[in-house]
Amino acid sequence: MAQSRWTPESWRAKPVEQAPVYADAAALAEVERQLAGYPPLVFAGEARKLKGALGKAQVGEAFLLQGGDCAESFGEHSADNIRDFFRVFLQMAVVLTFAAASPVVKVGRIAGQFAKPRSSDVETKDGVTLPAYRGDIVNDIEFTAEAREPDPRRQLEAFRQSAATLNLLRAFATGGYANLENVHRWMLGFVKDSPFSERYQELADRITETLAFMRAIGLNPEASPELRATDFYTSHEALLLGYEQAMTRLDSTSGDYYATSGHMVWIGDRTRQLGGAHVEYCRGVKNPIGVKCGPSLHPDELIRLLDALDPDAEPGRLSLICRFGADKVEASLPALIRAVKREGRRVLWVCDPMHGNTIKTASGYKTRPTERIAAEIKSFFAVCRGEQAYAGGVHLEMTGKNVTECTGGARAISEGDLRNRYHTYCDPRLNAEQAIEIAFLIAELLKTERLAAPARPVEAAE
Ligand code: TRP
Ligand code: MN
Repeated sequence: MAQSRWTPESWRAKPVEQAPVYADAAALAEVERQLAGYPPLVFAGEARKLKGALGKAQVGEAFLLQGGDCAESFGEHSADNIRDFFRVFLQMAVVLTFAAASPVVKVGRIAGQFAKPRSSDVETKDGVTLPAYRGDIVNDIEFTAEAREPDPRRQLEAFRQSAATLNLLRAFATGGYANLENVHRWMLGFVKDSPFSERYQELADRITETLAFMRAIGLNPEASPELRATDFYTSHEALLLGYEQAMTRLDSTSGDYYATSGHMVWIGDRTRQLGGAHVEYCRGVKNPIGVKCGPSLHPDELIRLLDALDPDAEPGRLSLICRFGADKVEASLPALIRAVKREGRRVLWVCDPMHGNTIKTASGYKTRPTERIAAEIKSFFAVCRGEQAYAGGVHLEMTGKNVTECTGGARAISEGDLRNRYHTYCDPRLNAEQAIEIAFLIAELLKTERLAAPARPVEAAE
């Protein structure tokens, strides 16, 4: 398929789904001009490193952990929030690294996850109809005409917040906060307090012993940087294309364009049209790209998407983030895996067990039962195994806080409990404990896979 020439603005000639309508075009253009002059949030070399890591995951030599808020917000931007998220995320990563016995690629839905696609352009309450909330980068969640008016200056605020968040994350990841022994100590605290304590104790004990053994032979975080630092990457949905374009930079090392708004960006299930603007933008930037795959995605359509987004079949380029719903994985996923195999293509198969399992309670809360989330992950692993594909990652909506947004989990959060601490700006997130519980579940599945797989050849030492 012949492609027309790509430029950072070539998406503008295509149909753009989910685009906000800005009243003041001149103000929008001025904001985009300013953003284009700002320094990049991430470097091309970092995005390349992530791509390399995802390439390993594609062949079963690493596992992707991707997670964070459904939507970040300007109102809840505190160091505490970021720290608590990071702390929980790292605990999950340790558990998964141990269980998989391979590296975990750590990618946050953070430092740029501000724009939201909506099922309707408008929202009606008590007879009043206003533009839908599209994320803090576009408008305000408050239900007034003024708040819902898209304001381009919010993009500058999103940039500022992303920079501040990234700054703290970089400090945490490299400045000692990621110390493996500390992370494990937090995890022991979680295990001790969990109603499911016994279920987690054995794995926790084995990690404790491993760390003690390593210390005994002289491998400890004080002496070994790899035990106290980690690579942490950022990602978000590339939805607001004017912002993404403004943050696109030509990398002088490679001569390629990169999205510098985050290391990895993904295309949503609502914006993955082949002739559409979002696919057009993403095909031209060299970052690792995610594509959300829902039940409506036809295998032929998927293959054409792969042709458009990854014409050179580059390792680590594409992650297919599957979000079918617990009861639809078996019906939807095999055909996609087979089509990709038939074409001889390599992708990373990632499970998003959140977005296909959202329900509304009688009292009007959007929630997700933790058991359904767990069921989708199990079904995903089972289908991948049946199709001899590697279940290579998970994509979660989660927070480090003790919110009550998803039901279930060890504390058996009920529909009635949701009102206690329901803080999300968009979809319901796993709270800190539920997120770690899910990590333990994935750990079990990974361990089963590892033990079932043929032994990996060990490279002979010269
Ligand atoms: N550097 C290794 C890694 O990132 C080990 C490591 C250090 C680690 N701190 C960590 C792993 C915290 C998980 C969580 O994998
Ligand atoms: Mn969401």
